[in-house]
Amino acid sequence: MSLADDFLNIAQQAAIASARTIGYGQKNHSDHVATEAMRQSMDSVAMRGRIVIGEGERDEAPMLYIGEAVGNQAPDAPEIDIAVDPLEGTNLCATGAPNSIAVLAAAPRGGLLHAPDVYLNKIVVGPDAKSTVSLDATVEENLKEIARALKRSISDLLIVVLDRDRHKQLIADIRQAGARIRLIGDGDLAPGVAASLAGTGVHAVMGAGGAPEGVLTAAAMRCLGGEILGRLVPAREGDEQRLADAGYPDLSRVFKTEDLAPSDEVVFSASGVTDGALLKGVRFFGGGCRSHSLVMSSKGPRFVRFVDQVHLNDDYPGKLTVS
Ligand code: FBP
Repeated sequence: MSLADDFLNIAQQAAIASARTIGYGQKNHSDHVATEAMRQSMDSVAMRGRIVIGEGERDEAPMLYIGEAVGNQAPDAPEIDIAVDPLEGTNLCATGAPNSIAVLAAAPRGGLLHAPDVYLNKIVVGPDAKSTVSLDATVEENLKEIARALKRSISDLLIVVLDRDRHKQLIADIRQAGARIRLIGDGDLAPGVAASLAGTGVHAVMGAGGAPEGVLTAAAMRCLGGEILGRLVPAREGDEQRLADAGYPDLSRVFKTEDLAPSDEVVFSASGVTDGALLKGVRFFGGGCRSHSLVMSSKGPRFVRFVDQVHLNDDYPGKLTVS
């Protein structure tokens, strides 16, 4: 089995486990079961894996903590750095809202930025609008460039923005420029990926979201040819110092896709938990379930694969429905 197949399976297992808790109103529990499933399915993978973006520091997360060794650790296995978000959109899963996914990315050692858990002020666009946007341009200028690149008018664009007070001005500026907005409660990773895929109806993501989600988005951009630009933004008290201690003293620095995911050999996998624009959620039936996932590799060979998989219990007796 290839690493991509292994990573597909890991995302699927996390999605299935957390989908069992949809609507329970317990986001920490949903996150915990996704993390546990991801951790368990990682053990058998032939790799000397190391978590570089995970559930927190060693003293605050029981598993998939930053620095944790994962995989079978066979001496001849490849050294892999792994970024995980076992349940992206914990609130979405807890309330049964759309767009929560289980997601992870991998690259050879050193291939993914160890981004601290602060905000990243982001702009994400697909391949056609790559190199046309800038974090120093105005919102209107960026929208004009995206519209030009996508050969349409600004009013045809749909921009995804997290519905947060900190985005009041951004939202006003987008409206003023004439583009349409999809305000989302949580989960800016899936729309970032969607912006790189024609037919999803998403043209860009703008605003400040998690920096770890930014690294995972960059991994996806490596595979899809899109672009993410981001600036680290302190979120909580003490963040500025933490950032300086972690080696990021310059808050004006713009991180490009290649800074967030330096390796050109990236594997990315995501599996839908609840239904979304990018992926369908897990559907259960007596004797099994059906998952919908995306697995991609940026090199050797480069591919993008959508996987619609039926998972059957060993004793499943019935007839499968096609479609
Ligand atoms: P969780 O899955 O950890 O709940 O994060 C969801 C999320 O909405 C991310 O998609 C986003 O990048 C970040 O949180 C935004 O953070 P905040 O809720 O603090 O604005």
